[in-house]
Amino acid sequence: MTTQWTTSAINAIQADYQRSADTHLIPLELPVYPGVSLYLKDESTHPTGSLKHRLARSLFLYGLCNGRIREGTPVIEASSGSTAVSEAYFARLLGLPFIAVMPRCTARRKIEQIEFYGGQCHFVDSSAQIYAESERLARETGGHYMDQFTYAERATDWRGNNNIAESIYRQMSREARPVPRYIVMSAGTGGTSATLGRFIRYQGHDTRLVVVDPENSVFYDCYHQKCSHLRCDTGSKIEGIGRPRAEPSFIPGVIDDVLKVSDQCSIATLYWLEKLLGRRTGASTGTNVWGALQLAKQMHEQKQTGSIVTLICDSGERYPDTYYNPQWVAENIGDLTDAQAILPKW
Ligand SMILES: Cc1ncc(COP(=O)(O)O)c(C=O)c1O
Repeated sequence: MTTQWTTSAINAIQADYQRSADTHLIPLELPVYPGVSLYLKDESTHPTGSLKHRLARSLFLYGLCNGRIREGTPVIEASSGSTAVSEAYFARLLGLPFIAVMPRCTARRKIEQIEFYGGQCHFVDSSAQIYAESERLARETGGHYMDQFTYAERATDWRGNNNIAESIYRQMSREARPVPRYIVMSAGTGGTSATLGRFIRYQGHDTRLVVVDPENSVFYDCYHQKCSHLRCDTGSKIEGIGRPRAEPSFIPGVIDDVLKVSDQCSIATLYWLEKLLGRRTGASTGTNVWGALQLAKQMHEQKQTGSIVTLICDSGERYPDTYYNPQWVAENIGDLTDAQAILPKW
């Protein structure tokens, strides 16, 4: 039997959803590749600033409907920051305590946002430690460990229900080339790529899903070596994506290819994109757009026409101290000159 609190909590989340608008799909002109259209699904415009707003909503509904989140249950999450911001928002909506377990190097703006929503931040030294620490905190507080890295792929209804994939195809429907030749997405949990890949197959679309992976992440090797046990010691410098282990939500079977993108290329693309869009995006968007540009170039060279869709995952306003601080970039990412020289010139 559903308690009155659970019914009200589910209704509060649904009512919040009802008040929301869909995110925009932005066409980006690529004059050097005529015949190839690039689109950016702008997930930075969600109320909590990233694509993780969708996931946080789904994870709360999943926890409530499974009876794991009840009145007063502390909610704990392991995160690189974006998911925790969105979950803090929903925890506040339901009046629940929220603790985010994150690497100490997480962007200051994300920490401030979590605290703004009343969440508590608990830091560990490296991203590999967030899982065990979250489990420990959940045990000690009698809380619920949300565990986005395991449940992201199953908490979202991948068949439709206005998920990100359905939204992309609906928004593309009146374009000159409505069925994307490629959708390009980076992986953190792998949940977004799992939703996209399953939807493509379920709907029988002629679209290839390409995942882009930054340095210091195992997804590329796991995919190409067909091995899920690889580990890496150093954390990814592209916040939100790249993991030290193959997360359970990363589903290789629905992915058509994985490309490696150097951190220099990701960051150089951010600055390139800023000039085109007139605003700043987060680093994972740079990884996505770099991958999309390589595919656009390949299509152009092979005389193919078609469209490519990728995501603006979050806004660059979160990263003034890192990706938009030249000193931080010089010390942590290195010289961008070579990457900048490869980007298309208009
Ligand atoms: C900024 C950003 N980009 C991309 C991703 C990757 O999305 P997913 O976890 O669905 O793979 C994340 C995940 O946290 C993120 O925070």
